[in-house]
Amino acid sequence: MCGIVAYIGKKQAYPILINGLKRLEYRGYDSAGIAIQNGTLNVYKCKGKVNDLIKHAQSKNLEGTIGMGHTRWATHGKPDDINAHPHQSGNGRLVIIHNGIIENYAVLKETLIKAGHTFTSQTDTEVLIHLIEELQSQGNLPVEEAVRAALAKVVGAYAIVVMDREDPNKLVAARKASPLVLGIGQDEFHIASDATPLVEHTNNVVYLNDGEIAVVTRDGEMQIKTIDNKVQTPFIQELDLKIEEMEKGGYEHFMLKEIYEQPKTIAECMRGRLNAGEGWIRVGGLATCMERISNADRLIIAACGTSWHAGLVAEYLFEELARIPVEVEYASELRYRNPIIGKKDVVIAISQSGETADTLSALELAKDKGALLYGIVNSVGSSIARITDAGSYIHVGPEIGVASTKAFTGQVTLLSMMAIHLGYRKGTIPKTYYQTLVEEMENIPNKVAKILESSKKIEYIASEIKDANNALFLGRGYNFPIALEGALKLKEISYIHAEGYPAAEMKHGPIALIDENMPVIVIATNKSAYEKIVSNIQEVKARKGVVIAIVTEGESVISKIADYTIEIPDTEEPLTPLLSVIPLQILSYHVALMRGCNVDQPRNLAKSVTVE
Ligand code: AGP
Repeated sequence: MCGIVAYIGKKQAYPILINGLKRLEYRGYDSAGIAIQNGTLNVYKCKGKVNDLIKHAQSKNLEGTIGMGHTRWATHGKPDDINAHPHQSGNGRLVIIHNGIIENYAVLKETLIKAGHTFTSQTDTEVLIHLIEELQSQGNLPVEEAVRAALAKVVGAYAIVVMDREDPNKLVAARKASPLVLGIGQDEFHIASDATPLVEHTNNVVYLNDGEIAVVTRDGEMQIKTIDNKVQTPFIQELDLKIEEMEKGGYEHFMLKEIYEQPKTIAECMRGRLNAGEGWIRVGGLATCMERISNADRLIIAACGTSWHAGLVAEYLFEELARIPVEVEYASELRYRNPIIGKKDVVIAISQSGETADTLSALELAKDKGALLYGIVNSVGSSIARITDAGSYIHVGPEIGVASTKAFTGQVTLLSMMAIHLGYRKGTIPKTYYQTLVEEMENIPNKVAKILESSKKIEYIASEIKDANNALFLGRGYNFPIALEGALKLKEISYIHAEGYPAAEMKHGPIALIDENMPVIVIATNKSAYEKIVSNIQEVKARKGVVIAIVTEGESVISKIADYTIEIPDTEEPLTPLLSVIPLQILSYHVALMRGCNVDQPRNLAKSVTVE
């Protein structure tokens, strides 16, 4: 997924573009570039991060009050100076930045080559700007008409901004399946992939819808049309983001800040939805579809990565507390296996960004098959939030670190409240247990804060395993998804190969891997399978494995067997994931730091994967 930013107004564009790219860099960071107009059209781009672009452009002509910028996560063509965006038309008149994938770019390229076009990059984006150029020159079209005609021929996903050197008082933007937001300032317009670069310039935004093309001009005109030329009335919304939410707040990394924000963000997710004193849970989004969900034949959960792990936790929650069958699907698999989904099904999509292409496509498939769509999303106004019939925002604030932490606990908090609420309404949990769970949920933020106080000990354990090449995470029941999540956290930011497994499954293969070089992190807080998890730990120790055990405060047996123990406060078993994941987040953060890895922007990754 890439970051797009553009500006037209009275101010110098360069600082606005660079600052905007820095705010978007978490979306992709293998190359970056800008294009600025001031009578001439200047394009500067290079491999690397935004800071590399700043060095590359510092001696150049950066004057101009209209421009665009792009930070890339490569899909077509390797990360290098040539494939970096912006891309120019053959006649040098037009320039484009693009987030998405043009599926039929090869066919289009072949036709354009026959028409005499030559290409310098391997990207699909360059094909698109040459197509716009071809159609513009064929019909002597204004740039917005050439863009519209070109997009009518395109198959795929795009969020684009186009500039025309011969028409320097307008920007043309368009989107399909990749996000794009217009910011309406004082005599100026901003365009970006999401709202984060806009928040310091304006609170008034328009989220472009799929198939829409926007033209914004220097004299404050904004026109939105569909691809088939129907004028649309812009729906102007007020942003509720604050600038301090975008900053690191004194922490060394966004990931560390977001780990430490969790007592607050979990409480924020429960605000207005849970009241222990009065003994109630109210999840607003559920109100409109309570019957459908309560009586669903099954809940199908579609998600990716960490969000998929939250879905696995939900399977245990909904089946145990609300007795509703749950199937958890990788969205990328669900969308292609021609699944049996019907009108009685409910499909719950879990997504921090609300823009993950596979999850969005799985929802579109489920919509076509008549299922009810429910979204659990963090990014307000995102594509998934807008395609679903109902949903709940997790309200944890923007998550900038690529490795998801507070979004995960926000998702699990919301899913826990839903399962408890549904269980009580269906009578599958008694009122007394309902009240116990509601009261315990209210205690979770303080218990998370308590775990965060033990981070020094976890940092020491990180120093003991930082040179490992492999690691195994084991958990049972509610802690099995947490074992998977802990493994993902470690592998995605420290590049240590890590796997999560159900603890009992270890003897069916993975135990062959265990030796004195293999750290085995065992989440051993289960009451219901305590003796079994003790024997799993003994099996590991018998093979010289190094055991790091997450145990409940006061536990006395495992603490004597394991090489290291991390204590977490006791809680009701269904709420354990909200606590047991915290030490694993801290552990992976410190291991990655000690290995000199880029914690906030791990190699090859992007914050939201808006391409397949
Ligand atoms: C998790 O740490 C990763 N960043 C990644 O697995 C992420 O959870 C996944 O790409 C799904 O993103 P989403 O929640 O925005 O849909």
